[in-house]
Amino acid sequence: MIRTPLIAGNWKMNLDHLQAVAFVQKLHWALKDAKHDFESVDVSVFPPFTDLRSVQTLMDADKIPFGLGAQDLSVHESGAYTGEISGAFLKRLDVGSVIIGHSERREYHAEGDDIVAAKVKAALKHGLVPVICVGETAEDLETHGASAVPVGQLEIALDGVDAAADIVVAYEPVWAIGSGQAATPEQAQEVCAKLRDVVKTKLGDDAAARTRILYGGSVKAANIASFMRQPDVDGALVGGASLIVDEFASIIRFQK
Ligand code: G3H
Repeated sequence: MIRTPLIAGNWKMNLDHLQAVAFVQKLHWALKDAKHDFESVDVSVFPPFTDLRSVQTLMDADKIPFGLGAQDLSVHESGAYTGEISGAFLKRLDVGSVIIGHSERREYHAEGDDIVAAKVKAALKHGLVPVICVGETAEDLETHGASAVPVGQLEIALDGVDAAADIVVAYEPVWAIGSGQAATPEQAQEVCAKLRDVVKTKLGDDAAARTRILYGGSVKAANIASFMRQPDVDGALVGGASLIVDEFASIIRFQK
């Protein structure tokens, strides 16, 4: 099965709503100027919550063919949960996907595998595609090797998920995030292949064949092609480099 590549930009806590709108406009112009084939790769941006409405309005008005994602969601529907954002609210803003289990949520907000699994279900309940992040720390790598922790995290995240569910998996070695030291393409391939096996075991052959598995961690224009040449790497979850228009446009326009 042919899987359309997905390049996703996780802006983390960067760009306010005015900066976000200007960025999306510039990125779209840069890609149009380069005569980019917008059908060849899916592009999604994941701005802070406060930008979502402005970015969605712009993309709608200017027919900008990017997906819109959020960086987190609540496990709850509504109610007395100060500071939380429900999947229902995201859906009302035409958000299509949501990052779940990013290592920064796991580390700074004590989100364990049980919360990640609950958030995956909350996303699917509202028709949002969960972008399920898994990955090992440097310590995990030393103690257990690269794949044991991400495989275990994904097994729990997929517990009770329907075989027909539309999901994305992002393999992000924690030691590679923001460090400038990406995994090698071979390391990424090895773990992504094992993650595809988990999808197969939990959700079946069809799901394994159609589910996109991304690599994330110090992806830039200079290394994207080497990851995209790997058979089980279907795209990238990009942090820092997704905040620079020309760099992100070059990543989107990767040539294998
Ligand atoms: O979600 C994105 C990842 O944390 C990767 O960030 O590209 O800055 O290393 P990075």
